[in-house]
Amino acid sequence: MRIPVIAGNWKMNMLASDAKKFVEAVIPSIKGTDIIPIIFAPYTLLPVLAEVAEGSNLRIGAQNMHYLDNGAFTGEISPKMLLDLGIRHVIIGHSERRQYYNETDETVNLKLLKAHECGINPILCVGETLDEREAGQEKIKISGQIEKAFKGISPEDAKNTIIAYEPIWAIGTGKTAASKDAEEMIAFIRQELKKLYGDQISEDIVIQYGGSVKPSNVKEIMNEINIDGALVGGASLKSQDFIDLVNF
Ligand code: PGA
Repeated sequence: MRIPVIAGNWKMNMLASDAKKFVEAVIPSIKGTDIIPIIFAPYTLLPVLAEVAEGSNLRIGAQNMHYLDNGAFTGEISPKMLLDLGIRHVIIGHSERRQYYNETDETVNLKLLKAHECGINPILCVGETLDEREAGQEKIKISGQIEKAFKGISPEDAKNTIIAYEPIWAIGTGKTAASKDAEEMIAFIRQELKKLYGDQISEDIVIQYGGSVKPSNVKEIMNEINIDGALVGGASLKSQDFIDLVNF
């Protein structure tokens, strides 16, 4: 049984006082949900959010991490530092990190291996560009990203990896993929996982859709058989929108 996950990715937004108010408003309104709600916040907010969310069902995660425990890597944050704050969720390989910060399939793989080694639950992002989609290359792109990301990942750890399918052309653009197209791509990802890990594990892996998800379209997306939740950027910045997404 796959438990759906609605995750907010705040990206480089929010200051401590607003973030605290957000979480305090959200927690009582999502108490009864049977899905898993997570907020992925900037590093600076993690201590305060971890403290406010403690004892609730709202989980707090980081948007990135290094694949080593420590060392001379100015400006980086290690998995040990996240664990030190009680943070056990991380986004790995978001397209913005691949695009602007030189994240490669190889570093994504190292981070995925490291997250599992440390007991941090990763959301692995994959997705094609508009050019790739228009050239009919989306499946080749996604299968390559999946195969490289999961290199050396054990079946048990694969099962505990959440995947977010996020077509890059749908991120922050207001252009959501049609739910049928998202479903087709996510079913395809399950097929690829089947080749790597067999039937059972491919059926057990939670796969989200991401890209301009908002309260008005979340239900349609969640109705698709293979889609187990959403990774939401813009619409996760207002507490009422996040509440509506979780209680869709
Ligand atoms: P968006 O971002 O919801 O603003 O399109 C999604 C994401 O980048 O995860």
